[in-house]
Amino acid sequence: MLRIGTLELSSNLFLSPLAGYTTLPFRLTVRELGGLGLATTDLVNARSLVEKRAKAFKLIETRPTDQPLAVQLFGSVPEEMRDAAVILESLGVASVDINMGCPVRKVCRIGGGSAMMTELDRTAALVRGMVEAVRIPVTAKMRLGWDDQNLTAPVLARTLEDVGVAAVFIHGRTREQGFGGTVNLAGIRAVVQAVRHIPVIGNGDVTTVEAAAKMLGETGCAGVSVGRGAFYNPWIFKHIQEHQANGKTPEEPAFEERIRVMSRHFELMMEIFGEIPGCRMFRKIAPWYARRFGPAREFTRRVVLISSRQEFHDLLADYRRWRAPFLDDQGQLKPQYRPAPLASSFMEGGGEHPPGSIAVPRGPVEVW
Ligand SMILES: Cc1cc2nc3c(=O)[nH]c(=O)nc-3n(C[C@H](O)[C@H](O)[C@H](O)COP(=O)(O)O)c2cc1C
Repeated sequence: MLRIGTLELSSNLFLSPLAGYTTLPFRLTVRELGGLGLATTDLVNARSLVEKRAKAFKLIETRPTDQPLAVQLFGSVPEEMRDAAVILESLGVASVDINMGCPVRKVCRIGGGSAMMTELDRTAALVRGMVEAVRIPVTAKMRLGWDDQNLTAPVLARTLEDVGVAAVFIHGRTREQGFGGTVNLAGIRAVVQAVRHIPVIGNGDVTTVEAAAKMLGETGCAGVSVGRGAFYNPWIFKHIQEHQANGKTPEEPAFEERIRVMSRHFELMMEIFGEIPGCRMFRKIAPWYARRFGPAREFTRRVVLISSRQEFHDLLADYRRWRAPFLDDQGQLKPQYRPAPLASSFMEGGGEHPPGSIAVPRGPVEVW
């Protein structure tokens, strides 16, 4: 259990916002597997929401089974951020998160995202305006700072607490680091120590139950937020919870379970986005599941071309046949074909680019 302002969560585990991925189908898929305390949408432009643009409303589409839900806003105009928060509250959203970590130029150029970390007074005034306008919790998500010379997160977190922020999410890297190097647990701890009461949620490179335990243990953070780790392993939240309860490391899900969950995700994409757009979006999602299938060249090559439900099911049938020679008599992957264990940067064997380390999706968001 964890409390964020007035919001009581069933666990201290969070799904990080991942633009283009943390859509309603993915959130539902993860929630069905259990363990998740709160999920967050992709970031939403506050102005688009205030102007009632269809694109913004599609990003916040939800269902009763997609609760509790946080919506992440970005923007730099105080009135727009405030009005967007009020709209979200009126729609029944559980909490509003403010993006202060996004390094993408489009967002920083207008003074949003990581640019907010560099202007304390302006940011505090903007956040105060939001907190005073709504009853639901307002939270902030940030990196450690702009670069190693400017580790501003502790001061920023404390300042935001003073203006009423209910929790802080902290990715343990600087903006300059992008996704390189290691997650700095001491940097996260400094944020935990800087605030008085509010929960600080640690984030970055958590791909295993052990990494989650180390993040919690070494930083004193109140919860853990998982982003890319949930791509490979949407079971991670349930597994971390089980590990917290009994100290055991759960087994990796079997191939059939991975296929079942991927297919469920696919079906929800069809239902929520329609067959053709859903297939197009799924082309970049399916390869993440495939990274834990073992040999998957044939699957990955074809899944990036699918444009119908039928093609997807035909592909699955063909892929099962293609994969058979890699299996032993028990139907398990022969040892030489098993994927390398995932390595968090702050765990032994982790580091900048260890084998099996977590990838960053290509495309405009590669520097998130
Ligand atoms: C594809 C992608 C999209 C992302 N989109 C967002 C976003 O919309 N808002 C945000 O605050 N962070 C975003 N992030 C950052 C993640 O929320 C998270 O802080 C980061 O990936 C580190 O956590 P992880 O190692 O568990 O993935 C994104 C990251 C990736 C890889």
